[in-house]
Parts: sequence; C-alpha cells; structure tokens
Amino acid sequence: MNTVAKGPEFVVSRAEGVWLWDQYGDRYLDGTASLWYCNVGHGRTEIADAVHRQISTLDAYTVYGDFANAPAIELSERLAAHAPVDDPRVILTCGGGESIDTAAKLARGYWAALGQPERQHLISRTGGYHGLNGFGTSIIGMDRFREGYGRLVEETSVVPYDSAEALEAEILRVGAHRVAAFFAEPVIGAGGVFLPPEGYFAEISRICRKYGVLFIVDSVICGFARMGNWFGIERFGVSPDMIVFAKGVSSGYLPLGGVVVDGRVADPFWNQEGNPFLHGTTYAGHPTACAAAMANMDILEREDLFTVSREVERHLDSALRGLESHPLVAEVRSGVGVMGAVELTEEALTERGITTAEVFAETRARGVIVRPVPKALLVSPPLVVTWEQIDHLTSTLAGALDAVMERH
Ligand SMILES: Cc1ncc(COP(=O)(O)O)c(C=O)c1O
Repeated sequence: MNTVAKGPEFVVSRAEGVWLWDQYGDRYLDGTASLWYCNVGHGRTEIADAVHRQISTLDAYTVYGDFANAPAIELSERLAAHAPVDDPRVILTCGGGESIDTAAKLARGYWAALGQPERQHLISRTGGYHGLNGFGTSIIGMDRFREGYGRLVEETSVVPYDSAEALEAEILRVGAHRVAAFFAEPVIGAGGVFLPPEGYFAEISRICRKYGVLFIVDSVICGFARMGNWFGIERFGVSPDMIVFAKGVSSGYLPLGGVVVDGRVADPFWNQEGNPFLHGTTYAGHPTACAAAMANMDILEREDLFTVSREVERHLDSALRGLESHPLVAEVRSGVGVMGAVELTEEALTERGITTAEVFAETRARGVIVRPVPKALLVSPPLVVTWEQIDHLTSTLAGALDAVMERH
C-alpha cells in the first residue's frame, strides 16, 4: 500500500490471449498469467458465453444441506474422474486459501472423528505458499507472511522443502500420534519455483503412509495443465489423501477452488451419524463459477493444452537457461511445468543494492509482466504462449537486467 501510495497505479483495462493493455492503450505480454491462473489465456468468448448462459438460467444458489445445482454436480464429477485420489469426493470453494483451510479442518476433523483428537499438528515446507487465510498463514513456509498478527495456529512446523528425511524426523520429533497432515505443492510456485528432488514424492508418500499422516497436495498453481496433467502431482506417480485446487480450474474467469478428498477421509462424515462437517461458505458451489470452470476444462481438453504445456515447458526452460550467463543471475530454476525463476546473485542484491522490484519495473516499462519475489523474478505465462512470445519475454528480461546493471 505504501509503495502504491507513492505513485500512479498500473490500471489493466483489457486482455486478449497473452496480451494486456493498460489504460493508455499500451500493450504488455502477460508473462505471469495474471497471478498464475490464466492457463487458457485471456478473452475466451466461449467462457464468457457459458457464464452468460448459466447466469441467465440460475445465477447462484446455495449448496448447503441437501441443496445442489447441476453445474456443481457436473463439475465435481468431472474433477473426481480426473483426480489421482481413491474414491474421490469434491468440496467446492471460492479459491485456494479457502480450500487450504477446508483441507486443514477436514484433516483435523477426520482424526477427531476416528477418536484421535490429539492428531492436530500440520507440517509444511520451506518456501511453501498456501494462501493467507487462517490455516494458510499458519503453515506458510515464509516467515514474513506470518509476522505481526499475534498467535496463529500453533500446532504447525516447517521442514526443508527438499528433504523427505527431514519430514520423517519431524514426525518422530512431534510424535506420529500428534501429526494430522503434511502439505506440499508439486512444484513450489509463489515461494520461488523450487522443484522437488528426484524420488522425493515417492518417499514422502511412503513416509506419510507409514505414520498415518494425511498427505495433502496443494495443486493450486500446478493444476489444470500447467504441469501437463490435471493436478500436477501425477508427474510423480503418487496418490495423495487430498488435493487442493483453484486458479487454473477456471483460468480465473470467475473465482473457484476446492478440495478433492479420498473416500476413506470423507467416510466418517458421510457414513457416521452425528458427525457433520460444519464448514462451508456462502458462494461454495456457485453455479456460474462452475459453468466457467467447465468451459475452461472443455478448452483444455479440446486444444490438448496438456501436450502443448509439455512443449511450452521445454521451450521456456531452454529460453530461461539463456539468462544463466547474465552477470546478475545466480541461477535459473525451471524445467518442470510452465513456470520458472530467475534468481539474482547475492552480489547484485546486497553489494549493488539491486532489487527485484526494480528489475520488474524495468521489464514492465519494456512491455513484459514478470513477478518479483525477494530474490527472483518469476514467470508462468498462459499455456497458449508461442515460442516467439517466450523469446520476447526472456530477451526483454535480459534487456531490463542490462539496464538495471548499468544504473548500479
Ligand atoms: C500453492 C497455492 N496455494 C494456495 C494459494 C491461495 O489461493 P488464493 O489466493 O486463491 O486464496 C495460492 C495462491 O497463490 C497458491 O499459489
């Protein structure tokens, strides 16, 4: 707020495909798919038409109790059919953070229903980002997001993102009988694009099973073809107990998220009397948002953006690798999914006093949007980006790095 208060805001007025226009009519390449969500690209009239049709038929109606609507049922069935989860059930929400809170409460509620209410502890990973609702803020793997709000959920801990042994050690330290769940993104996104080491998830899955800890995958960024499949985690051949999704499910055309839950975890709530899951929100199962998601899924399937995504991933990876030799760049992280990070050297950040915000601003002034985090610039374009546009993205970023280097 303080930064924005000092200058004019950047007003986005229109968008089409991978392009945005500001209020003055200047054009920018959307190198981040807005906030990692616009997988099918902007301006899809097919989604707009589906929204119009649905909102004119049934705008919205609650799905509390036994209320339902056709788009919510159809979407849930479609998501369940694709999810690598046993006997899947779907809970719909309005976004990612809300879904994380839902999954965390469900995990704790599950153990309480099984007569193990002491299983409350939640483990997450360094750099992990799970939204900024109550539980999300409590388990986030970046301390700065947790500071200044007093006491949050206390039965939580964070382990190094790249060590399965660290998870096992933490489960043993806390006591398996106290641990409810482990949260992990297939590839860490907002925390800076960190890829799991070889064999990591197979080992995680084994450890969670061994100690009875629920394995919750946060696919909010990695889902809906960004990693070339539906939920990202399929890349690693494991089957989690819950999958949290949002963003790409509707490509952001309308807000939507949810949790796919293993039937075994849902069972105490469905099949035991007196065990309600007293949780939900006003707009859960919003039929118009669900209609947008289904039109989005139609596009993903019809244009086979899963295969396209794998090709874009390779091209983006090789284009970003071209920046590795830049004097300001410490490393490039990419190669799994359509996302990448260009991390600046400590020398650039500390001795030269360069900030990623400055590189971001310079890149934007040259017509390309990237995303700054404290040490890196992140990219995650819509999956419909062309090779030429990827090269434009990386060469513009290189030009911005040169210009910033010259100033310092
Ligand atoms: C992996 C992950 N989980 C959860 C969230 C939170 O989603 P939302 O901002 O919709 O609450 C995000 C948002 O960036 C995310 O990247």
